[in-house]
Amino acid sequence: MVGGSVPVFDEIILSTALMNQVISFHSVSGTLVCQAGCILEELSQYVEARGFVMPLDLGAKGSCHIGGNVATNAGGLRFLRYGSLHGTVLGLEVVLADGTVLNCLSALRKDNTGYDLKQLFIGSEGTLGVITAVSIQCPPKPRAVNVAFLEAARLLCPQPCSPCSRSLHLLHPCRALGGFFRSGSVHPCSLQLWSVWPRPPRPAPCPAMTPPPVPGRAEQALCPLRTRSLATAGCLHASPLGPKTPSAAQGCPGFAEVLQTFSTCKGLLGEILSAYEFMDAECMWLVRHHLHLTSPVQESPFYVLIETSGSRAEHDAEKLNDFLEQALRSGLVTDGTVATDQMKLKALWALRERISEALSWDGYVYKYDLSLPTDTLYDLVTDLRARLGSQAKHVVGYGHLGDGNLHLNVTSEAFSRSLLDALEPYVYEWTAGHRGSVSAEHGLGFKKKDALHYSKPPAALRLMQQLKALLDPKGILNPYKTLPAQA
Ligand code: MLT
Ligand code: ZN
Repeated sequence: MVGGSVPVFDEIILSTALMNQVISFHSVSGTLVCQAGCILEELSQYVEARGFVMPLDLGAKGSCHIGGNVATNAGGLRFLRYGSLHGTVLGLEVVLADGTVLNCLSALRKDNTGYDLKQLFIGSEGTLGVITAVSIQCPPKPRAVNVAFLEAARLLCPQPCSPCSRSLHLLHPCRALGGFFRSGSVHPCSLQLWSVWPRPPRPAPCPAMTPPPVPGRAEQALCPLRTRSLATAGCLHASPLGPKTPSAAQGCPGFAEVLQTFSTCKGLLGEILSAYEFMDAECMWLVRHHLHLTSPVQESPFYVLIETSGSRAEHDAEKLNDFLEQALRSGLVTDGTVATDQMKLKALWALRERISEALSWDGYVYKYDLSLPTDTLYDLVTDLRARLGSQAKHVVGYGHLGDGNLHLNVTSEAFSRSLLDALEPYVYEWTAGHRGSVSAEHGLGFKKKDALHYSKPPAALRLMQQLKALLDPKGILNPYKTLPAQA
């Protein structure tokens, strides 16, 4: 993402691929000790067979090494539930620049003896030492996992809808055409529970719910907010798929509902909530267009993926249903699908996990990984669409909303200097202005090292440089990365 492991000038590449052995696993505590070159997915399979899970998961699991995960302090998809590697890594073995083997491979949960040296190496991107083994705390494997993929938006339709006026956004005929489930609380005819994916046969609609006859093509029955072609015909909202929003001042219809859904979800799902991810309509377009994945819901400005992991299926299902009922009733969510079996879970996760891959098929990608206060997080995407205009092919926002982490990506046909100049330092200044971080989980590597000062005060930078000089006086460990050039 940031060129942290990409040789640029005269580096020597060190591969830990052959250091791929599990050293020990404790079946009561769930402590795994393994060599740095173990592939994350293989470790996941290993611990899952023993009733545990790895505390981190990410799209690159099939190829990334645990040593690299720790060196880069990878965040990923389970962060919301299990927290950072700064908490789950119990110990490390590290080879220092002078060849000293620092064996801090503790398996202890508690060890308050002086400085916690391992923390220095977690997220140091290999600039302070080479991690050769990891001791990590694995949580018990959840017995029940549910994934809900939701269309999260309350879009008020300009078309009047008399029978269902109390809940225009939910029960307007345009929604009745294709929703997977709908609230039963407002309109008696729609009293039904949500269905699970795949979509079951639809019950005969109540006459009051039947879409009004619309002349012409079938899709004209859809609300103008929902279709690209009709988006300009009298509808004030931007088309969800239109690559650019005309002006940031229009705000982001639907994002407030994404946030509100998150609050509701945290309150009602509590300890079983294990992921809250979001993606915008352009992301969905990209995964459909480049990877031919199909969306289980209708077009919308925003989608939310919610995962629950718990120990009792009925208990979790009940909680999830309560949440969905409330989200639907209040109009925060207008369409969705729920999966519990492995294949469908994976298919729903793929829509979110493979955005990065879809982006790489779209052209040259400018990638930003930002921590921002959640309420203003998406404003940057909207701002940029207006700022960049036709210079950019796509400006997309997605990420780990539950962690306040926005992945902002901009694509263009080819690298363009003027586009880069329009993006930087604007994105960094915007982020610093909102007291955010210029790297939430990807690190600084080669590309972002000069942006470090936007997120750290001069005293912190100085201390980092002193630590680097102490541990690697000759500058041989991952040179040219992480710290600004003068270091
Ligand atoms: C993700 O969450 O998908 C990655 O961290 C971001 C990316 O691959 O662009
Ligand atoms: Zn991410």
